[in-house]
Amino acid sequence: MNIGSFAARRNVIPGRDTEDRDRGRARVSLERDDEGTRIAALACVLARLRAADRFYPPPRVADDPAAYSAWLSERTCLARWVAFVYDIVVGHVLLATPGDHLVRFLASADPDMPSERVVEIGRLFVDPSARHQGLGRGLFDAATREAAARRLFPALVVRETGRDAIRLYNSAGWRDVGTLSARGGTLHVFLPRE
Ligand SMILES: CC(C)(COP(=O)(O)OP(=O)(O)OC[C@H]1O[C@@H](n2cnc3c(N)ncnc32)[C@H](O)[C@@H]1OP(=O)(O)O)[C@@H](O)C(=O)NCCC(=O)NCCS
Repeated sequence: MNIGSFAARRNVIPGRDTEDRDRGRARVSLERDDEGTRIAALACVLARLRAADRFYPPPRVADDPAAYSAWLSERTCLARWVAFVYDIVVGHVLLATPGDHLVRFLASADPDMPSERVVEIGRLFVDPSARHQGLGRGLFDAATREAAARRLFPALVVRETGRDAIRLYNSAGWRDVGTLSARGGTLHVFLPRE
């Protein structure tokens, strides 16, 4: 990633990290943000994602900062993480109460599944300019670790056009257990391998 041009586009003036940047080494980090203090910055990231991929966020979400912020807050959030390159917000994931469509799918697939212990990993995204540095995987791993620490069963849904995300879930050892129809089209349900 060309951190210099990215920073310029975001009007970030090189400061304490100039030395690292001069060596061409991006400093990436994750921060826990359960309170959603970074949602306004994340809405800007979502606007860039929409410009690059009209299916993410889903088309039902208007191309508007308030709508993006609402979409990030519409679920009951159990935990949330934000990814940074230097001090620039570039990515996000949350652990949330599962959507009704996911609960129905899991209940019909496995009636013994304790639905009250299911959590959904959702809203995983990384700015197009900050991808392929391990941030997506880092966010995903943070969410799965948190679910394990709480002894909850993580699950997720992904649209069929989300090829990069599907590759990430497969490489993390999750499996595609079926599809469900939602307003935005077909969604694949992923669960961790046993
Ligand atoms: C899915 C998504 C979050 C992945 O983000 P990311 O930060 O690029 O993810 P990672 O960097 O962890 O991994 C992506 C790839 O980069 C590679 N990678 C990781 N670190 C790397 C590095 N230092 N150098 C080069 N490549 C690297 C990984 O091996 C992986 O490759 P693969 O997909 O070919 O196996 C991102 O593509 C995205 O935001 N997509 C749109 C939103 C979306 O669909 N979200 C999912 C909704 S369910």
